[in-house]
Amino acid sequence: MPIIAPSLLSANFLNLEADCTMLNNSKADWFHLDVMDGRFVPNISFGLPVISAIRKATTKICDVHLMIEEPGNYANAFKDAGADILTVHIEACPHLHRNIEQIKSLGMKAGVAVNPHTSIALLEAIIDDIDLVCLMSVNPGFGGQSFIPYTLTKIAALKQMILAKKSSCLIEIDGGITLNNAASIIHAGADILVAGNTVFKSANPTQTIEALKLIGE
Ligand code: DX5
Ligand code: ZN
Repeated sequence: MPIIAPSLLSANFLNLEADCTMLNNSKADWFHLDVMDGRFVPNISFGLPVISAIRKATTKICDVHLMIEEPGNYANAFKDAGADILTVHIEACPHLHRNIEQIKSLGMKAGVAVNPHTSIALLEAIIDDIDLVCLMSVNPGFGGQSFIPYTLTKIAALKQMILAKKSSCLIEIDGGITLNNAASIIHAGADILVAGNTVFKSANPTQTIEALKLIGE
């Protein structure tokens, strides 16, 4: 079964507690928390105080996706805020190996996100050192965009790389996932589905999470 990680970017910011309770009582595995700085991506979302508050509202895994420049300056702060997994963008990290070592030394799982145009070949040298790869299936910055079909080719190639290296690294797909395309994404080799609009804009988010969880069964 896939790991389901609803993105709170699409939650109701006027009542985050209600959405946290809904997720706690659902089959959601992780909370996916999207941090944007207005520099790495052309949007600003939320940051440390909001993540600290969400941390107090759940015991589920907090999967923090940093869409920010110079993430190494903030790894400590995100650990203190309660991140279990910290994912940085390869495009924002000229010293990626150092960033990964820093995240792990702080006691968090380390993820690396790659934009739609970025080749997964760049991951070959570090795949053994990381816990997950987040393949962006939209250009990061906004919820509610359409899934980029070429992502399926990248998932399959990344899965081959992981198997060849006998790595335990997980494949997370982020952006534009719907109940219609989730099966093909899992079939291509994805382990984790991030879903924002599909969950939070649906009539019954709890049921939508369960439906995502059961896809591929
Ligand atoms: C996009 C974020 C995603 C986003 C997904 O920059 O990283 O996590 O919230 O939202 P949907 O599922 O609506 O595309
Ligand atoms: Zn994300």
